[in-house]
Amino acid sequence: MIVEDFIPKSSSKSIEKGSFTWSSPSNIALVKYWGKKAHQIPENPSISFTLNNCKTTTTLSFSKKETNNSFSFEVYLDDEKKDDFKPKIETFFKRVEVYLPFLKDYHFKIETSNTFPHSSGIASSASGMSALALCLMSIEKTLSPSISEESFTKKASFLARLGSGSACRSLEGNLVVWGKHIEIDGSSDLFGVKYPYQVHQNFKNYQDTILLVDKGEKQVSSTLGHNLMHDHPFAQERFKQANKNLSDIISILKTGDLDKFIALVESEALTLHAMMMTSMPYFILMKPNTLEILNKIWAYRNTSGSKVCFTLDAGANVHVLYPENEAAQVLEFIQNELVAYCQNGQYICDVIGLGANKM
Ligand code: PMV
Repeated sequence: MIVEDFIPKSSSKSIEKGSFTWSSPSNIALVKYWGKKAHQIPENPSISFTLNNCKTTTTLSFSKKETNNSFSFEVYLDDEKKDDFKPKIETFFKRVEVYLPFLKDYHFKIETSNTFPHSSGIASSASGMSALALCLMSIEKTLSPSISEESFTKKASFLARLGSGSACRSLEGNLVVWGKHIEIDGSSDLFGVKYPYQVHQNFKNYQDTILLVDKGEKQVSSTLGHNLMHDHPFAQERFKQANKNLSDIISILKTGDLDKFIALVESEALTLHAMMMTSMPYFILMKPNTLEILNKIWAYRNTSGSKVCFTLDAGANVHVLYPENEAAQVLEFIQNELVAYCQNGQYICDVIGLGANKM
């Protein structure tokens, strides 16, 4: 599938060498994307909070080369050469080459670093792929300066999606929808869009404390997990449910109904993991401590009346979500009761953020 709109017509300028740096955040889905069609098209729409502190900063340096018959690049993480990152980037370059015709004209040096520990179990693919897509778009803008800011962001999200699906939700803040949904104007399967409707004050500066339960490599990659949705017995019902949850979250976000928000978000998290447990082959990414934490959160909510809740990514870590006005109490609860279940007592305090920045 080639999307003509994103193929540049011609470039008016040329450039020998240069470098661009972008910093892009991670995001956490409220309604989850799990299952995709060919060309990174999601089976259902999703919505996420953009994070603020968990970020990747990438500098892309480029210099014109003699021949233009293959990709040429080197990758560094925290100043250390990372040849094991190359296959993923090569695949990404192949997918986006038609949209960025200059890719084979340059040698690239990609230098990247994360604000969160690399082996924290926090996926760096969303922040990393969106930062790289933005750097590439900065080159395109240098070659074709007339591109508008809106088209720049849309195409950067489109490219990021081709690197890692959820990366297309990491460019803007603070709520982003990806995937066509009839009730959300402008939504698309091809790129993420800023959530276009009213959001209640209750969600302002919403807090996300990420409890690092297990920092090991995932036993099952998300690519494999998405693929297992193809012959999944519950897939169609799940995609229907995600569509309904996205409809329902529109009024929840508008009215600020935190009880309904909690029910929707926790159900989404557990459904994601239920899909994993009911795939063939089946797998479990939660750890015993993940369940301990969920039970503690439920018990705390019952006794305190707090509006704290959890969500999960494709891993064992727990994202603890709560309104800003409960920050002090919930942090105390986390420190007193939940940190014991984190690997080496580690957790990361984050808050919903505004999206990527050019440095
Ligand atoms: O972007 P991917 O292919 O790594 O998939 C991520 C899927 C989840 O994080 C589990 C859910 C989501 O919507 O972010």
